[in-house]
Amino acid sequence: MIAFDFSSRVAVITGAGGGIGQRIANMILKAGGSVVMIDLKEEPGDLAGLPEQRLYAQGDLTDQAFVTAVIDEGAARFGSIDHLANVAGVLWFDRDASLLEIDLDVWDEIFEINLKSMVHTARAAVPHMRRTGGGTMVHFSTTQCLRGDPVPQDAYSTAKAGVGALSRSLASQLASYNIRSNAIYPGLTMTPLQARWGIPEKRAEIARTVPLGRIAEPDELASAAVFLLSEGASYITGIDLVVDGGLLLK
Ligand SMILES: NC(=O)c1ccc[n+]([C@@H]2O[C@H](COP(=O)([O-])OP(=O)(O)OC[C@H]3O[C@@H](n4cnc5c(N)ncnc54)[C@H](O)[C@@H]3O)[C@@H](O)[C@H]2O)c1
Repeated sequence: MIAFDFSSRVAVITGAGGGIGQRIANMILKAGGSVVMIDLKEEPGDLAGLPEQRLYAQGDLTDQAFVTAVIDEGAARFGSIDHLANVAGVLWFDRDASLLEIDLDVWDEIFEINLKSMVHTARAAVPHMRRTGGGTMVHFSTTQCLRGDPVPQDAYSTAKAGVGALSRSLASQLASYNIRSNAIYPGLTMTPLQARWGIPEKRAEIARTVPLGRIAEPDELASAAVFLLSEGASYITGIDLVVDGGLLLK
């Protein structure tokens, strides 16, 4: 594992109550950074670091006023906003479906959470980054939007395809302000989002579809995100990083 230094750095992390977001928060906390975390869920009990390194806001990312207030509070408390990890997302197997038949209110709701919430966080974070001379961002998409799925979840994959465009737009518009933006495309990762793989037989069946022969651990996605946020990726912007154990090779 590469060790990164985030001391005196401040990161906003959405979805920090979930599998991958919580791991990103812990890696940055252990590397000496402060984190501003936003999630619908309660604060996880197993966060690293000291309480004074953390601001946890339980609430809805589709509420622009709430998001802006939390990020501004984080900047006031910690002195800057240097990083943004847009991790939160929903995959609603029960209600997401083919675009030909999905309830359009559900379609809109999925877009609000999976794509527009990233607009709220970026609009709130970028002024702070510009004020202090730069910053880095990472936005979570999915390999599903690159390869399709036999069971369509069209709102999810279409919104996630937009995440790549959002990231590249931010990268090109903000490069001159020393702000980098990159997108991550996870493959199959064992988190609460994939509770459907609860039984070992199901997990083994899923693992056999991956060239590396296993489902990813959340830490394997978190370390890719932390790398892109870190100084180690200082010349990387506007890329789409696939982290999928070779799934797209098939
Ligand atoms: N797990 C996988 O197999 C997989 C695969 C591809 C992409 N991804 C993407 O990775 C990202 C992280 O997923 P994960 O696997 O850690 O899932 P997760 O369900 O463990 O975490 C997602 C978090 O987002 C939060 N969230 C959802 N809607 C919210 C809202 N409106 N406001 C505030 N918080 C909200 C949830 O409460 C949850 O804690 C997601 O964007 C997901 O689409 C995951």
